[in-house]
Amino acid sequence: MSLKFLVSAGPTREYIDPVRFLSNPSSGKMGFAVAKEAVKRGYECVLVSGPVNLRPPKGCRFIPVVSAEDMYQALKKEFRSCDVLIMTAAVSDFKPAKTLKQKEHKIAEKSILELVRTKDILKSLSPDKGKRIVIGFAAETNDLEASGKRKLFVKGLDMIVANDVSKPLAGFAVGKLNATFLYPKKAKERLGLISKTAVARKLIDFAEQEAKNK
Ligand code: CTP
Repeated sequence: MSLKFLVSAGPTREYIDPVRFLSNPSSGKMGFAVAKEAVKRGYECVLVSGPVNLRPPKGCRFIPVVSAEDMYQALKKEFRSCDVLIMTAAVSDFKPAKTLKQKEHKIAEKSILELVRTKDILKSLSPDKGKRIVIGFAAETNDLEASGKRKLFVKGLDMIVANDVSKPLAGFAVGKLNATFLYPKKAKERLGLISKTAVARKLIDFAEQEAKNK
């Protein structure tokens, strides 16, 4: 069976001025592990990533992006020709209302930064998903399963990996997840502490299985 994977990874950066941005500590490891596993199994793979310190796996097509809008544009373009979208990226939910062209000096004692929402990439893409398989991630500190379930339905997903980041071992930028897999119809699977490589394998297994059933 030939499948084309589209994987997003890393953080996004939302620039305030030329030298400052809003972001998060996502390392990109999860998405890069998924891309590596897809290539290893002989599948075509496109990896769209925000700024990270990782080398893209050999054999996948790599598209580096910076902002949430860049990531949306790249994914929208690639989505049409993919069979599976795996969205591991930690997309910024907000961006500055405007990006200043010059560096802002600290003249004032106080400053208020106006933020506006970025596009919800999964929510924007999923109405056109057709037979595609779409998988999301949710890093949660509380109400893990309830929030995961809500995102599963709101974003039109076939599966979501809910990661409990309330404990230090499974937070951002570490090698492991404290994962629960949630599905729209099937019972949840509690995996507990699990490596990103093992999660990557399970996601590709799931996509292969779903593709057979569609
Ligand atoms: N996501 C996305 N576009 C965004 C934000 C998130 O496509 N602007 C994707 C993430 O890549 C992830 C899933 O949506 O696969 C859940 O992301 P998360 O940050 O947990 O959820 P949010 O949609 O940001 O919801 P909330 O802020 O309520 O937690």
